[in-house]
Amino acid sequence: MRIVPTLLLMTLIATLTACDQESGTTQQTSLEASLGSISRNSSHGAELTRKKCGSCHWLDRSLRKIGPPLKGIYGRAPSISGVPFAVWDEASLDKWLTSPRSVKKSTRMAIPGISDAAERKAIIDYLKLI
Ligand code: HEC
Repeated sequence: MRIVPTLLLMTLIATLTACDQESGTTQQTSLEASLGSISRNSSHGAELTRKKCGSCHWLDRSLRKIGPPLKGIYGRAPSISGVPFAVWDEASLDKWLTSPRSVKKSTRMAIPGISDAAERKAIIDYLKLI
């Protein structure tokens, strides 16, 4: 009578497969949800950056406009002189974007600064991606 163990084994495999598919679907759904939220956030950041920085900076090309290109700026040392930072990270970019003139009096980055912390964060998060 080998049929009983075989049946048991088949049932077990069927159950395991069903579990697997179920958890696979759940994982996929939450992955899709988080990917959706990442792309929504970064497209908000992308739009803000293009609007508020794009007149003076190229975001995705290595050419100069009035300001140096911003591609790859995050995690890199400043290419400009006169700023007291070793690297452009969250803290230094946040200070710079809040008020470039308070960081470097003579800067040619002639914007009053971005007063909204959430906007600065969205822009900085976007700069990390490009
Ligand atoms: C009115 C033009 C203008 C606007 C708008 C502007 N910048 Fe600038 N930016 C400059 C100039 C000019 C410099 C060089 C400043 C200097 O040498 O003091 C600069 C420098 C920088 C630097 C230093 C780059 C390096 O290579 O070290 C960063 C970072 C930066 N800008 C980010 C931004 C971001 C982010 C925005 C948008 C929120 C923005 N800038 C908006 C003109 C601008």
